[in-house]
Amino acid sequence: MNVSSLAYFKRYRMERDLEALPAVPGLPLGYGWQSWSPMILDLHADVKYRSFREEMDVEIFPSLGHRVGCQELMHNIVTRWEFVPEATWLIVGPDGPCATIQGLREGCYGSIQNVGVVPECRGKGLGAALVLKALHGFRRSGMTHARLEVTSMNALALRLYQRLGFRATRILYKPTHKIHRDEALIS
Ligand SMILES: CC(C)(COP(=O)(O)OP(=O)(O)OC[C@H]1O[C@@H](n2cnc3c(N)ncnc32)[C@H](O)[C@@H]1OP(=O)(O)O)[C@@H](O)C(=O)NCCC(=O)NCCS
Repeated sequence: MNVSSLAYFKRYRMERDLEALPAVPGLPLGYGWQSWSPMILDLHADVKYRSFREEMDVEIFPSLGHRVGCQELMHNIVTRWEFVPEATWLIVGPDGPCATIQGLREGCYGSIQNVGVVPECRGKGLGAALVLKALHGFRRSGMTHARLEVTSMNALALRLYQRLGFRATRILYKPTHKIHRDEALIS
């Protein structure tokens, strides 16, 4: 018998100021930046889907596990007045689009949304380059600080953000409906 119960994921809010930003590192050979345009909404959505579909964050944000859900998420982000195109980037590699990031303005904070690199392109520095590119975009757009949220068990992402100067400022608990198989209830 399947029993649905409420579980919680621990998440960190992380922040850093936008002074003394390291330069955006060069991308590996064959990879290039594509700036935001509404014409490439579906490309961002597709990369977001491929980056997140196997990841634990799907349990908290189920839309990330579906192509249509990612298209809706992208649409919701880019139609908000807080949307920051200067902090929204796609990386295109030899095999096509492979990494995505979006930015929103929250007062003097730039808020990073859903950094994603497709599994076959990880470990090449694209994640670090994306975050730094967004941070420079926030600063150019007049913001003084940046923030993001990360699931505490997402060790790779957590380490990446710490390496880029982010520090945890708050602990958050996000609910997720998990299905547990409870053998004791089978009769
Ligand atoms: C988190 C994420 C964006 C990092 O992207 P990335 O392009 O692998 O990042 P980088 O290459 O800049 O850095 C990854 C780190 O893992 C190391 N690494 C080495 N080989 C790796 C591999 N095959 N895969 C992943 N990481 C690898 C890198 O050396 C680096 O280590 P460091 O931080 O100690 O220097 C990516 O793993 C991802 O998209 N994950 C799924 C979505 C997700 O969880 N996003 C974050 C939401 S908050």
